Amino acid sequence: MALWGGRFTQDSDVRFKHFNDSLRFDYRLFHEDVEGSRAWAQALAQVKVLSEQECASLIQALNELEQEMTGRELEIAAAGDEDIHSYVERRLIEKVGALGKKLHTGRSRNDQVALDLKLFCRGACDDLMQAVRHLQRELLKVADENQGVIFPGYTHLQRAQPVTFAHFCLAYLQMLDRDFVRLNNVRDLLNICPLGSAALAGTAYPIDREALAKNLGFKGATHNSLDAVSDRDHVMELLSCASISMVHLSRLAEDLIIYNSGEANFLELSDKVTSGSSLMPQKKNPDACELIRGKAGRVVGSLMGILTTVKALPLAYDKDLQEDKEGLFDALDTWHECLDMMALVFEGIKLNKAKIEAAAKGGYSNATELADYLVSKGVPFREAHDIVGQVVLYAIAQNKALEELSVEEFKRFKDVIAEDVYPILSLESILAKRDVLGGVAVNQTKAEIEALKQQLLA
Ligand code: ARG
Repeated sequence: MALWGGRFTQDSDVRFKHFNDSLRFDYRLFHEDVEGSRAWAQALAQVKVLSEQECASLIQALNELEQEMTGRELEIAAAGDEDIHSYVERRLIEKVGALGKKLHTGRSRNDQVALDLKLFCRGACDDLMQAVRHLQRELLKVADENQGVIFPGYTHLQRAQPVTFAHFCLAYLQMLDRDFVRLNNVRDLLNICPLGSAALAGTAYPIDREALAKNLGFKGATHNSLDAVSDRDHVMELLSCASISMVHLSRLAEDLIIYNSGEANFLELSDKVTSGSSLMPQKKNPDACELIRGKAGRVVGSLMGILTTVKALPLAYDKDLQEDKEGLFDALDTWHECLDMMALVFEGIKLNKAKIEAAAKGGYSNATELADYLVSKGVPFREAHDIVGQVVLYAIAQNKALEELSVEEFKRFKDVIAEDVYPILSLESILAKRDVLGGVAVNQTKAEIEALKQQLLA
């Protein structure tokens, strides 16, 4: 039975009912709805709308209902009520009779759903922060194990300068750290309680809304009822966090796909996160990474969805706002799954060190060092750059690396080049010179890893 039958003389068309009902997705707010209802019962008792005895009976029935239905959420979804608020109220009335009908005094589904969704978002922030940390710890482990593994660094997907695999892992760890902080900020900003705003104008009962807010773990209560029932900033912000983080995960997936390709062959993804081809027996496809990359699109789509839904909505609540949930649930599930999946990918990652070293050595990634060497011998940088360009052209024609050229060959381009050039061209020396905060020098990475261990593993 709907919560609003009195004013109607005809039943809803079944097609409209299906179109309008939200229980098949907002069943996910069951626990939040029960939690909010318990707090509302207490608030009503404080203003004597309910006796202490009535309040206790309602809370007991809500506890029973919660216990009974935990783990049976799909049954709730199929119960046929209009939405989760109608479901909880119906079940409550079944348990305590007429008393159940008192709980909705001074409350509207508008402030109720606003509350439920904020509670849900708050819990989701906590869960997702955990998941981000879990992936960060996996990245840290792999970084720690590969501190000295010299890896080709790219710009424009052209080999540029050598880095280490640890430094590569820590780059993504930094991005995830910002994702973590963003989640924490969203959690903080949303943590203001809308309950007591009623339909749009505020409840007509003298509820102590600050006390109610504290009871539900909020920092305080909202200051404008029109805003409180129609605010979905937290949905937009959470989806924005999800989108940015999915973009990070997608870039990481793309890097791994490239490094795992037959052409690069820098690393091998574990059998646990790859699949085969039904036709080509030799294939081992990086499906986990491809799906992460693909799912980024869907999460960004949900962000666009909510922004577009809320844009141009008149105050206060409009039914359009019911569209806030499916995209949110789907995007957060997807993000969480992708964080976990990427952690699994890193758990089984194997580096092909010989191939990596050969690639880091090739591609003339020590050309900048040669230019700096000339600068140290008094050649102006612009001229040094030009000379090294010519040396590289010559070396390519000879099919040799820079360090394979003889001193005589070097001297054809600039006679200041001597035997002392060779140590400068080594990969180890290139790394060691970048001994600056955030640079690739192995001791910098080591210090960073130790600091991160303190932060993430303590
Ligand atoms: N199912 C609704 C939603 O998700 C609950 C609020 C309904 N409010 C109303 N006035 N019809 O937004």
